[in-house]
Amino acid sequence: SAFSTSSSAYAPYNVKNITVFGSGLMGAGIVQVAAQNAFNVTMVDLNPEALKKGQDIIASSLKRVAKKQFPEDAAQQKAFIDKTMAQIKTSTDSEASSKDADLIIEAIVENLKTKQQLFAMLDKVAPEHTLFCSNTSSLPIGEIAKATKRTDRFGGLHFFNPVPQMKLVEVIRTDETSQDSFDSLMDVCTRMKKTPVSCKDTPGFIVNRLLVPYMMESLRIVERGEATPQDVDVAMKLGAGFPMGPFELADFVGLDTMKFIVDGWRKEGKIDDNLVAPVKLLDELVAQGNFGRKSGQGFYPYNGVGGKK
Ligand code: 3HC
Repeated sequence: SAFSTSSSAYAPYNVKNITVFGSGLMGAGIVQVAAQNAFNVTMVDLNPEALKKGQDIIASSLKRVAKKQFPEDAAQQKAFIDKTMAQIKTSTDSEASSKDADLIIEAIVENLKTKQQLFAMLDKVAPEHTLFCSNTSSLPIGEIAKATKRTDRFGGLHFFNPVPQMKLVEVIRTDETSQDSFDSLMDVCTRMKKTPVSCKDTPGFIVNRLLVPYMMESLRIVERGEATPQDVDVAMKLGAGFPMGPFELADFVGLDTMKFIVDGWRKEGKIDDNLVAPVKLLDELVAQGNFGRKSGQGFYPYNGVGGKK
């Protein structure tokens, strides 16, 4: 490709403008971190209500960050928040929003067809040099990239919840991702003050490949009557140093999301069936609408703002 002439490790694109599709928890978090680090960011969603929710997520998270960075200095806190907000534009116009993007990051619904449709459209309207990325946690990057003619300029940038706090980004390269594209993505992560790790396009990449089977086995421990969720959580926090136990984490990630991931992997058939064997307890909670923190009830009850009761 015209874009892989350089073999130097230096990132060739010098990404300045980032457009993020999706203003949910992940999209808003990515927008915030990019804006905090001087990228020009456009946040895109289908309607103004969704954008407003995204802005609210950013505003409340920025307040926490500002308080931490400038303790007891309200003026500096405000200056930091204003400066960051000024880096962010919002739009419901997908086409116009991609016109000056150097990098597009997609964080919309976890649905392969929907993602493919978005990228097929963007491939036609975005500039030639624009890099495309998905923040998917469970779908194959290569399958999404197939919807475009720029598979060499396509990769994965997988952030973790809560994005402003979690240091890691998994940078996923497919067999077709060019070295230049990959270098640019690593460079963007560093400039966002994140620590990138490189991973091939495999189910769950690194973190979820390990975390999801571990969470499923935690559910099986409870289902077999060997321990309570509370005791498993205490055990993993105090015995393994995890910040949250597996049941707290499941509630945090969303039980519906967990089920979606394991069901998808089982169908895909690329990882050992035993690791993702269905667990009745999970299926039942999801069928009842108990998704965890976001619905007010999962393994634990939550109050309106998502704190534990
Ligand atoms: N914005 C900015 N900062 C935030 C934040 C937010 N939304 N949420 C938390 N923080 C910061 C706080 O300001 C605080 O900062 P400090 O320690 O520097 O003062 C720090 O995070 C800790 O917050 P709290 O004291 O309020 O609460 P906890 O100590 O319980 O930490 C947690 C909360 C950071 C969520 C921690 O419990 C944790 O790390 N949990 C594990 C999270 C995890 O594993 N995430 C990955 C999930 S898997 C995933 O995302 C993949 C998906 O694809 C399935």
